[in-house]
Amino acid sequence: MDVSMKLYIVVFLLQVLFLSRSISCELLNLRQSFDNLSVFPSDFLFGTASSAYQYEGGYLSDGKGLNNWDVYSHNPGNLIIDGSNGDIAVDHYHRYLEDVGLMHSLGVNSYRFSISWARILPKGRFGEINEAGIEFYNNLIDALLIKGIQPFVTLIHFDFPQELEDRYGSWLSPQSQEDFAYFADVCFKSFGDRVKYWATFNEPDYQVKFGYGTGIFPPSRCSRPFGNCTDGDSEKEPFVAAHNIILAHTAAVHIYRTKYQETQGGSIGIVLQCTWYEPISNSLADKLAAERAHAFTVNWFLEPIIFGRYPPEMQSILGSTLPEFTATEKQKMNKGVDFIGVNHYTSYYVRDCMFSVCEPGVGTSKTEGFWGQSSEKNGIPIGKPAELVWQNVYPQGLEKVLTYLKEKYHNIPMFITENGYGNMNKADSTTEELLHDVKRAEYIAAYLKALSTAIRKGANVKGYFAWSLLDNFEWNNGYTVQFGLYHVDHKTLTRTPKFSATWYRNFLAEHSKVKYQQQAKDANHSPFYY
Ligand code: BGC
Repeated sequence: MDVSMKLYIVVFLLQVLFLSRSISCELLNLRQSFDNLSVFPSDFLFGTASSAYQYEGGYLSDGKGLNNWDVYSHNPGNLIIDGSNGDIAVDHYHRYLEDVGLMHSLGVNSYRFSISWARILPKGRFGEINEAGIEFYNNLIDALLIKGIQPFVTLIHFDFPQELEDRYGSWLSPQSQEDFAYFADVCFKSFGDRVKYWATFNEPDYQVKFGYGTGIFPPSRCSRPFGNCTDGDSEKEPFVAAHNIILAHTAAVHIYRTKYQETQGGSIGIVLQCTWYEPISNSLADKLAAERAHAFTVNWFLEPIIFGRYPPEMQSILGSTLPEFTATEKQKMNKGVDFIGVNHYTSYYVRDCMFSVCEPGVGTSKTEGFWGQSSEKNGIPIGKPAELVWQNVYPQGLEKVLTYLKEKYHNIPMFITENGYGNMNKADSTTEELLHDVKRAEYIAAYLKALSTAIRKGANVKGYFAWSLLDNFEWNNGYTVQFGLYHVDHKTLTRTPKFSATWYRNFLAEHSKVKYQQQAKDANHSPFYY
């Protein structure tokens, strides 16, 4: 062995030593940190999540129509910080088989993805069905099922045919309800024989706040001081758009329940962003402010869909700005979900801004409900600050938000439809650094542990999806922010597992072992066992 070889071995051993020291024992010892993995039942869905515009690319392939994000990202006035777009994204449209292979190697049993509406209905209900688009999703669904991976399908994750914007102003018009119902019907008919989990919308509160409040998402409508747009009314339009979305959801659920559910046997829900809002003090004012924060985000959609009315907090602040539901609509909305999809990334402290003066910021205006958010109290962060400014690692927040939803909505089944850790893809980051994402693994481990506690305490949670399988197009942040368990080289589109992928794979393998041991035990006790 020559000297350089010896040197190489010494450096290698030092690296291994350094790596294993920088990774906490708890992270590596799954049995120890999850004292009871069987708290996740054997039919629990463990998966990864994605969305069409962030993943697929193929933006003009095989008859796809243009969607709102295609048009927005090509408009030089857009607010995508690296000037990028989702034209290619991570090319999932052409590489889905490879990606299904990656999921299979992780050991997941479910994949949450969304359908590109413009790929199957390039002009909404005003044109033909694009059979090539239907074929793509058929192929993806079949490839997943062959590998034992359940498709969990979101109908819309922020992208819709531009035709609907150009014709009637999309969500500002009640016509959008008809279009969405038609789209949903096509999806149930085409894929519902194999898809057993449907979510109508992804985070509609962000869709309307960013599209019509601050204007940072298409159709970029807003008014001052909320944003700088050429047209719009931030104090009215978000509520009109949300109203049409709630009724579009209701129409899709009605179609599913009356035409398909009995024969297809699936369930249908909606995905909401469920940040945890912790009152900054024990004062009644701050507690009510935290309740208003929930009312103007998650309950804005869930209360109408489940109870047939807007949250009382919204009604009393917004008065006639809030559209009304007719008696027939209310009747139709009754218990309008089989499950709640919970997207959870972070938590904030919340203070009252109704009786106290707050500096302008998220939540403080009347339109948003007079509450102010902050990541810290007396200079101490709510949880360890993560790499992205808006994210703090506070796993108790997941437990708290699940308990909150459990109590408020009578423990309707829930899925954690997104949870993940973001990092900056800085110009000077090396691939090695990006692959060594111990913090992401620690984050996922801590949140899974909090989830197991919530389940043990009775939260009816049926699945967990890590956001995301791959680094992808992160909306206004383009490719500068990453959430993937797999690194994607955007020049070659090569996928490489990060440390977090290995951690998730080990976790799932450990869970499978526990699951099989449990099943064997149950079989031993079964009256049919001889
Ligand atoms: C969205 C995803 C996004 C993720 C991370 C969620 O709010 O649904 O599309 O990539 O947050 O920012």
